[in-house]
Amino acid sequence: MTRWLVTGASGMLGTDLVAALTSLGEPVTGMDRAGLDVTDAASVTDVIARHRPDVVVNCAAWTAVDDAEAAEEQALAVNAGGAASLAAGCAAAGARMVQVSTDYVFAGDADRPYAEGDVPAPRTAYGRTKLAGERAVLGRLPGSGYVVRTAWLYGAHGPNFVRTMIRLENQRPAVDVVDDQHGQPTWTADVASRIIALIHSAALPGIYHATSTGQTTWFGLARETFGLLGADPARVRPIPSSELTREAPRPTYSVLGHAAWARLAVPPIGDWRHGIHRAFPELLAAYRAAAAAADHRPDNEPGAPAALRRLPR
Ligand SMILES: NC(=O)c1ccc[n+]([C@@H]2O[C@H](COP(=O)([O-])OP(=O)(O)OC[C@H]3O[C@@H](n4cnc5c(N)ncnc54)[C@H](OP(=O)(O)O)[C@@H]3O)[C@@H](O)[C@H]2O)c1
Repeated sequence: MTRWLVTGASGMLGTDLVAALTSLGEPVTGMDRAGLDVTDAASVTDVIARHRPDVVVNCAAWTAVDDAEAAEEQALAVNAGGAASLAAGCAAAGARMVQVSTDYVFAGDADRPYAEGDVPAPRTAYGRTKLAGERAVLGRLPGSGYVVRTAWLYGAHGPNFVRTMIRLENQRPAVDVVDDQHGQPTWTADVASRIIALIHSAALPGIYHATSTGQTTWFGLARETFGLLGADPARVRPIPSSELTREAPRPTYSVLGHAAWARLAVPPIGDWRHGIHRAFPELLAAYRAAAAAADHRPDNEPGAPAALRRLPR
């Protein structure tokens, strides 16, 4: 039986990966940031030596894309330094490693899906730090390192675009959403299952793309979400990206190709629309549970003293 160690285990993807492994009866140790800060090289060495995993999946990351522009060194410490320490620990322990990465390693201006072997050209600090993480892992683990790139994630256990649309549908008569960025909305549970399948198959080390097939824009995803809520999709209005200013430029084309899966007996994740239809009951239940919990916190009560309402959560 494969022993797994998952870092970033309380993040959106890490939570679903640990849950999927647990439901399969696989021995898994999930480490959140409090349990293992990946920037602490000595702790990384110690944890891998103590748990002796067969596979380490690194879901820990600095994921604040805009904040990374002004804090590239800190982002690099997590996204590259952390990955490098984990890879060194895996090399010493004879473990395999999966480094989760991103479409942001590419320039995002192509007119055909990016292949696994295409030359990266990140245009953001976040993308540069994630690319450095990929290289750190593949360089240290040439025979046992995997990079799984994903993109446009949504899931039940973290903030994401679909959750935001569920909230805004409830709060606003109409929402404006960009319609000139193209990508593949992808459910974290689908990425988790592909990571597990990758390790269970006799996959060669290297780069794999774990995103849904098909493509849409954020506008298309917002409309689909409104439709799933039983709301009128016409309440979502298209706008160009030029109407939004962000610290980090957003890729206009983030579609990834899936040719590497064809060499395995593992089908790629299916169509993005099918994915969100399967995920939606869980996403909605998680949103409602979080909203209900927030409503019942004393500091949210309308009559609560101002000082109490200001308490950070
Ligand atoms: N979300 C997307 O759309 C997307 C797209 C492409 C690729 N990815 C990649 O997918 C992976 C998972 O992303 P996600 O969406 O699950 O992100 P997430 O919800 O932000 O999870 C990342 C986790 O990493 C933890 N972390 C941050 N710094 C750490 C450190 N120094 N040591 C240990 N843990 C640390 C965070 O803990 P705290 O909460 O305590 O900070 C958080 O639990 C990442 O590699 C990301 O780059 C995500």
